[in-house]
Amino acid sequence: MSFGLDVPFVPTPEPVVRKMLELAGVTKGTVVYDLGAGDGRIIIMAAKEFGATAVGVEAHPGRAELIEKRIEEENLKDKVTLIRGDFFKVDVSKADVLALYLLTSVDQRLEPKFESELKPGAKIVSHDFPFPGWIPDKVVEVKDSPFTHQIYLYVMPPKKAKRGLADEPFRAFFGYKAIGGSVGAELHLKR
Ligand SMILES: C[S@@+](CC[C@H](N)C(=O)[O-])C[C@H]1O[C@@H](n2cnc3c(N)ncnc32)[C@H](O)[C@@H]1O
Repeated sequence: MSFGLDVPFVPTPEPVVRKMLELAGVTKGTVVYDLGAGDGRIIIMAAKEFGATAVGVEAHPGRAELIEKRIEEENLKDKVTLIRGDFFKVDVSKADVLALYLLTSVDQRLEPKFESELKPGAKIVSHDFPFPGWIPDKVVEVKDSPFTHQIYLYVMPPKKAKRGLADEPFRAFFGYKAIGGSVGAELHLKR
């Protein structure tokens, strides 16, 4: 079963997660969403290290279960919520920050949703994959051997780019990392 996933599971390294949250200015009380929460590392760090209120959305039942277990083990039920399901169907209007690790093709499909739902001043930090229709307010590089990661920061409303989807090399890069990391596990879980 595929669970309707739009992106494979590849975790963001912890130093990159920390930088994403710093770059977005997350602090006590900031409402952080991670669409496609994976193993929950972004929402857990946002709550534990930054004092944020965090919401994760995850469609894969096994990973959702793991996240719920971690929330309980870390005693974070008051600060962290998991929504099981498809992030395209989840209202993000309460988010101050979206921390994302998706694909540029998926980011492109999310642009109209974010433009209509996110409040002015809300921030998006996107690991490695830019939004093709928008111009980032900032791009930061984080080295975590053996890879160098990019973080794209957007402040709503975003400045519009003239070009469309133009990031084949980024998608190839993601595919490479997925093969090195977690696609095997993904296939195993689907059997
Ligand atoms: C690249 S991983 C990112 C994990 C985590 N955000 C991180 O950065 O470590 C993408 C995650 O999105 C989930 N996912 C893919 N499509 C989804 C969808 N339509 N709705 C909810 N989750 C989805 C996958 O199961 C996977 O866990």
